[in-house]
Amino acid sequence: MVYLKQQRPEKVTVPAVRASKERGEKLVCLTAYDYPTARIVDEAGTDIILVGDSLGNVVLGYDSTVPVTLEEMLHHTRAVRRGVERALLVADMPYGTYHTGADDAVRAALRLIKEGGAEAVKLEGGRTRVEVVRRLVAEEIPVMGHIGLTPQSLNKLGNYRLQAKTADAARALVEDARMLEEAGVFAVVLEVVPREIARAVTEALRVPTIGIGAGADCDAQILVTHDLLGLSFSKTSPRFVRQYADVRAAMNDAFQAYAEDVRSGSFPSDDESYPLPADAAEELGVTRDAGDKETKKS
Ligand code: KIV
Repeated sequence: MVYLKQQRPEKVTVPAVRASKERGEKLVCLTAYDYPTARIVDEAGTDIILVGDSLGNVVLGYDSTVPVTLEEMLHHTRAVRRGVERALLVADMPYGTYHTGADDAVRAALRLIKEGGAEAVKLEGGRTRVEVVRRLVAEEIPVMGHIGLTPQSLNKLGNYRLQAKTADAARALVEDARMLEEAGVFAVVLEVVPREIARAVTEALRVPTIGIGAGADCDAQILVTHDLLGLSFSKTSPRFVRQYADVRAAMNDAFQAYAEDVRSGSFPSDDESYPLPADAAEELGVTRDAGDKETKKS
């Protein structure tokens, strides 16, 4: 297995993400919520790692991202921070942390940066977020926008369906993207919008677009890592998810094999347990198991 990180060792920064568009480079983005996944995702050469509030669905077992708290985001962002060296680390601002005014948003974002170790934050919404984005950027907090399907709007939308599918909604989406760019975002996530509209937004912006369910013309792509690995328990799989592995099946096989070995007594073997040293056995008057010898591994 060749680690892409070794081919592209340079640290990914916010200016590098901006510049990637001019160079025509396709950035690769994934989510992570814990240390081991973050290490593996980073070592594979992923450019941007997002601690998404999708953690609510995929690791915390909530029905949506709405209940995710700032404390939960901080807990997971800190774990991911410890596993990431090269990728740009972005943390989602959870629902409710930027809806009550720019001061609250700055306070929450600063915690994600200072305590969580994130290098940028992401928040959902278009024109309604312009003031907040401007303020965060003025406080030197890099912001990634997120428009199209915004899962934190579930209670308003009622479902997770395709967005920007009428001419008016498509025009509004392009305008939202322009306004976010003008406010200072360094990239914009486009979630579940028609590919033609994603292409139009991508052409209209100088900053990169990051697509999820938005077609191949976005400047970058992101998937939820658990979806890609086949580790998601959601009832439906959206058409934009390409599953690259069946980790759930691999885990299930491993757990069943372990259970069988425990029940049959074949685990642990002598090699997987420790013999009593000969001198202690003699002093205690204990008979050592047949074949026991000192092992180097302790
Ligand atoms: O929370 C998340 O994982 C996201 C991505 C789907 C973009 O926002």
